[in-house]
Amino acid sequence: MPLVTSKDLFKRAYAEHFAVGAFNVNNMEIIQGIFEAAIAEKAPLIIQVSAGARKYARHEYLIHLIQASIEMAKASGVDLPVVLHLDHGEDFEICKKCIDGGFTSVMIDGSKHPFEENIKLTKQVVDYAHPRGVVVEAELGRLAGVEDNIKVDAKDSSYTDPGQAKEFVERTGCDSLAVAIGTSHGAYKFKGDAKLDFQRLAEIEKVLPGFPLVLHGASSVPEDLVAICNEYGGKIQGSKGVPESMITQASKGGVCKVNIDTDLRLAMTGAIRKVFAESPGEFDPRKYLAPAREAIKQVVIRKLKVLGCAGKAI
Ligand code: G3H
Ligand code: 13P
Ligand code: ZN
Repeated sequence: MPLVTSKDLFKRAYAEHFAVGAFNVNNMEIIQGIFEAAIAEKAPLIIQVSAGARKYARHEYLIHLIQASIEMAKASGVDLPVVLHLDHGEDFEICKKCIDGGFTSVMIDGSKHPFEENIKLTKQVVDYAHPRGVVVEAELGRLAGVEDNIKVDAKDSSYTDPGQAKEFVERTGCDSLAVAIGTSHGAYKFKGDAKLDFQRLAEIEKVLPGFPLVLHGASSVPEDLVAICNEYGGKIQGSKGVPESMITQASKGGVCKVNIDTDLRLAMTGAIRKVFAESPGEFDPRKYLAPAREAIKQVVIRKLKVLGCAGKAI
């Protein structure tokens, strides 16, 4: 199957009460680990690339690695639906480059702009994307946390207003909407107990029935993965993610796409640290990148089950 848009996937996700995992990729081992997990679990995939990832690995490399993975999956008898998505596109130009360059979905993140400006920018991207068969995710409300090394303090974050969400979707024609209900990017999401505003989510779902919502900053920051990092020389303290039960709860409602990056980073780093600590004489990159790839596979398998999308590629 060639790359697909998320349109049909989200329709199914909405109707069957699951969410599709959207995983950030930066190199070959991450891509391979994610695909191995999706093949094992027969799950559809959204592979997402940030501006930082495009800069680090180059757009062309990532596209070809993803295409190769789709072919390998097909050769092994699993025809996975795969969406190639730009994560947090900050202006029209980057969205255009990705639309012209083979992506099937882009996010225009106008969340830092005032409402009217966000609408104008999002509509500009929608007007370019739709005639070219590409779908658009937008964001309303602002998450706290770190993206591309830009830190948004909790005081500058703001939850999504349900009334504005309806108007925003109607006026922009976007295909999905990222909402702020208390998640944040990175490994330090909550100081005390984890809390998401499910009441607000329900209100957004009510005013936008059948419309796919997106949860960013949705890593669970599993304690066992943090513990591996710390056991082998890491220093990750005070981290806290979104409990898996909350992710499952959101996935059963209007949330059709759940973004995960931090958990992959933790899994990969822990596996590499372990090899470095246990075999300090080792210097063959394959000896630490293979366990890193396996760690990615295992954490993605876990996520696909939490999201309910295992088995949904068939
Ligand atoms: O939302 C941010 C994602 O985790 C991507 O992170 O911008 O550092 O690649 P990055
Ligand atoms: P996490 O930092 O929680 O993994 O969120 C990733 C994300 O939202 C990418 O857009
Ligand atoms: Zn995000």
